[in-house]
Amino acid sequence: MDKEISQNENIIETVDLTKRFGKKNELVAVDSLNLSVKKGEVFGFVGPNGAGKTTTMKMLIGLLEPTGGSGKVAGFDIVREVIKIREATGVLPEPAGYYDNLTARQNLRFYAKLYDIDEKTREKRIVDLLELVGLSRAIDQRTGGFSTGMRKRFGLAQALINEPGVLFLDEPTSGIDPLGAQMMRDLIKKLSKEKGVTVFLSSHSMAEVEEICDRIGVIARGKLLAVGTVDKLRDKVREKEGVRYALEVQDLPVQRVIEGLKGVKGVRSVEPVNSHVSLLTGLGARMEIAMAVKSMGGTISRFEEERMDLQRVFLKLIEESA
Ligand SMILES: Nc1ncnc2c1ncn2[C@@H]1O[C@H](COP(=O)(O)OP(=O)(O)O)[C@@H](O)[C@H]1O
Ligand SMILES: [Mg+2]
Repeated sequence: MDKEISQNENIIETVDLTKRFGKKNELVAVDSLNLSVKKGEVFGFVGPNGAGKTTTMKMLIGLLEPTGGSGKVAGFDIVREVIKIREATGVLPEPAGYYDNLTARQNLRFYAKLYDIDEKTREKRIVDLLELVGLSRAIDQRTGGFSTGMRKRFGLAQALINEPGVLFLDEPTSGIDPLGAQMMRDLIKKLSKEKGVTVFLSSHSMAEVEEICDRIGVIARGKLLAVGTVDKLRDKVREKEGVRYALEVQDLPVQRVIEGLKGVKGVRSVEPVNSHVSLLTGLGARMEIAMAVKSMGGTISRFEEERMDLQRVFLKLIEESA
């Protein structure tokens, strides 16, 4: 059980959490990470390979000792109270290893025994959990014969055996086919909704974290580049990069529109694209543009912001940090 942590309190928190590797500590895998995750949130840790996601998770669950800084999970210190953290959390590691000669049920029994769960509760929970992850029919099959998708779902059942308040899922969909990955994402959403578990998951896909996470932290080269909701991250990039619009005007030649908009406040560039114009502006230039078109005697038939796709937002943030 976690210490008394009320809603709105941080269930995961790090202060300048740092991990260095190498003989002379020359490789900084995680660099002064300051993170906070609220109870009940699904938090996505997104970044390219080698960014420091796994290293961070390992420190949070007490598998790796930090080189510097500190952290708390479920109210417990990640260095001094590792055993309490084990009790309060569930972990899906990447890659996950099981006793492949044992069946799903036997494997879960083994993990349940690590937590001193009484037999009756244990046997019922095993059945319930395997049903939850869609593996009821495989309950007495050896995990060695499971597909990658089945293994991941089984791992989720295993991570839930002690009814944890916090789940750490390291790349829960990596290596699974698209259908299996979708099943896994749906399952994570369901868990969060029905059981109120706090989920901390890592991924290298921005689209994936957008689909399932309340908030996202972008990490690259060990550094946290941005944190917030998807919309907030998008705004951050819009602010920096500007906003792109497609504008279509009736009653005026394209060339006239372009000339007329060049001097308008907030407009950075205007160019023709087929029968419309493409505009790059600062934030909040929309009104000025509409008024300028009107004063030229034109009628706007389309004025749409080009939605920046998330993968580009992600790459921009990483690029800018280099
Ligand atoms: N045990 C280790 N010894 C040395 N370097 C490591 C070790 N574990 C991870 N690293 C390095 O730390 C960096 C972050 O790795 P990792 O946390 O696994 O990234 P991610 O999970 O985001 O792909 C990488 O440069 C990796 O090579
Ligand atoms: Mg990793």
